[in-house]
Amino acid sequence: MGVNNMQKVLVLLTLVMCCWASMAKAEYFKYKDPKQRLGVRIKDLMKRMTLEEKIGQMTQADKSVASKEIIKKYNLGSILSIPFPTSLPAQGASPKTWVDMVNDLQSGSISTRLGIPMIYGIDAVHGHNNVYNATVFPHNVGLGVTRDPVLLKKIGAATALEVRATGIPYVFAPCIAVCRDPRWGRCYESYSEDPKIVKLMTEIIPGLQGDISVGSRKGVPYVEGQNKVAACAKHYLGDGGTHLGVDEGNTIIDAKGLFSIHMPAYYDSIIKGVSTIMTSYSSWNGVKMHKNRFLVTDYLKNTLKFRGFVISDFQGIDRITTPPNANYTYSILAAMNAGIDMFMVGFTYEDFITRLTYLVKNKFIPMRRINDAVKRILRVKFTMGLFENPLADYSYAKYLGCQEHRDLAREAVRKSLVLLKNGKSVENPLLPLSKKTSKILVAGSHADNLGNQCGGWTIQWQGLSGNNLTAGTTILSAVKTTVDPRTQVVYSENPDDKFLKSNKFDYAIVVVGEYPYAELLGDSSNLTIPEPGPSTIKRVCGSVKCVVVLITGRPVVVQPYVETIDALVAAWLPGTEGQGVTDLLFGDYGFTGKLARTWFKSVDQLPMNVGDPHYDPLYPFGFGLTTEPRKK
Ligand code: BGC
Repeated sequence: MGVNNMQKVLVLLTLVMCCWASMAKAEYFKYKDPKQRLGVRIKDLMKRMTLEEKIGQMTQADKSVASKEIIKKYNLGSILSIPFPTSLPAQGASPKTWVDMVNDLQSGSISTRLGIPMIYGIDAVHGHNNVYNATVFPHNVGLGVTRDPVLLKKIGAATALEVRATGIPYVFAPCIAVCRDPRWGRCYESYSEDPKIVKLMTEIIPGLQGDISVGSRKGVPYVEGQNKVAACAKHYLGDGGTHLGVDEGNTIIDAKGLFSIHMPAYYDSIIKGVSTIMTSYSSWNGVKMHKNRFLVTDYLKNTLKFRGFVISDFQGIDRITTPPNANYTYSILAAMNAGIDMFMVGFTYEDFITRLTYLVKNKFIPMRRINDAVKRILRVKFTMGLFENPLADYSYAKYLGCQEHRDLAREAVRKSLVLLKNGKSVENPLLPLSKKTSKILVAGSHADNLGNQCGGWTIQWQGLSGNNLTAGTTILSAVKTTVDPRTQVVYSENPDDKFLKSNKFDYAIVVVGEYPYAELLGDSSNLTIPEPGPSTIKRVCGSVKCVVVLITGRPVVVQPYVETIDALVAAWLPGTEGQGVTDLLFGDYGFTGKLARTWFKSVDQLPMNVGDPHYDPLYPFGFGLTTEPRKK
């Protein structure tokens, strides 16, 4: 061959290669085409996936052990942030830092063979509570009081925007537990002891996800788009009904009781298109929910036709055995057989993947079970537009902690407070307080403490005391900005008798309560207000006319002090917007809240819920005094 001919062949070869490359580039993948029907996309993608890729999709690892390389290597389907410093991008991280982190991890997913995006999840249980400067809404125990589904929907929508501000498309909320015993450390995550109220509050789901269109097939997951997030109804089932209120304990109840108390809110969540459901650490009559095939597969998936995915709780499958992790392979097998689709394994993703692969390859778990799980996960990802928009942009940053959301939270606080007592006699009410007077006292461990006011699940899992955790308004600073400038506001956290006597206070606002806690660390068998709360109440109310504002995650023991107190307000865990409390104390708005929980006299009455034969409360379910807003 001459030089000329050689050149010609080379040119031709280059041309063929170019052509081939551009053909390959243009190769059409049905699953990547948003114009294709959802079912077609899922089917197309499923048939391309290897077992490894499928198992990867089912694995959710914690951010602290994840990197884009790991995500790519193991085809991880999901990453989460747990409320621990190592699982967050940085202390006080800005929305940009969050978005950069999520996108960096996502780049690992996009660069996999099939480019299936991972779904990033976080607990946003009272606003985007792990994130510095986010709006922190009242915990659910307060929101239940409002009985206001329209408000809940707005809170859901605001939370979705704040979560998107950090590049995250998935929240582990709402908790639709029906707390039947306030000794439970998670009672504040529950809207009410009454299933009807909890059912009503599922309106937060269309707030988070958007409104599913009328006539949609029952049970299909739904997420409207970029300004909404996938939600997760948790913890399925009976988490709020455990014996003695023990966290992760055993719910002893017959099927009729379980289905009439703990199930109704799930019906509504599913009808509203909830995308995912989380199984509970607790057991039903001795059987761990993470291995309950009847309730997860037969009932939830087959009877209720739930078509989103079921996710395990954090290391929840480990706890199928006692002690946890005694036989991880068995736990995986049991949870798979029960019908769990995505596994919140946390740190042990590699071990999980190895063992699950073994179980499938050796036919302990049928391929159809894997396919069921993966189809459900892909259905949620396709529905929410994750394939089209895997990477977040910075445009939502403006929503984080914005004034509109803070105003909404303030409204929620106003509607969630319950006035339990107002004056020693009806003719002589203490509230509303006068703004214009000479000298007032603000006292108590919770008066100037944003962390105490927000409770657990705020910035950190167990919450934090103090004023440095995030931005917000304490009750003390709200008092100062509400009263007339000429009124002298004296603050003393725990004043002694001498101080009280040497000052002439017109009245005192005493703010005391529980210190932040979460999950099992909040279990309490005595439900007393921790010291110095009770001594502050006794001392201050013993010498000054006082209103006591309780910051608690549940009803607590107050009967011994009620006599000495002039006015008593249950403020629950109001969150960052303390002005909602002063709006009511000073009469800019009237009290409207009605108890969504029974206020017991003494703990030996517990459990005691509305309708019980032995019902003898201090303040019954539905109780709440009202005041009229002061004329301006
Ligand atoms: C809780 C869940 C939470 C998960 C992830 C668990 O300990 O029970 O409610 O979603 O942690 O943080």
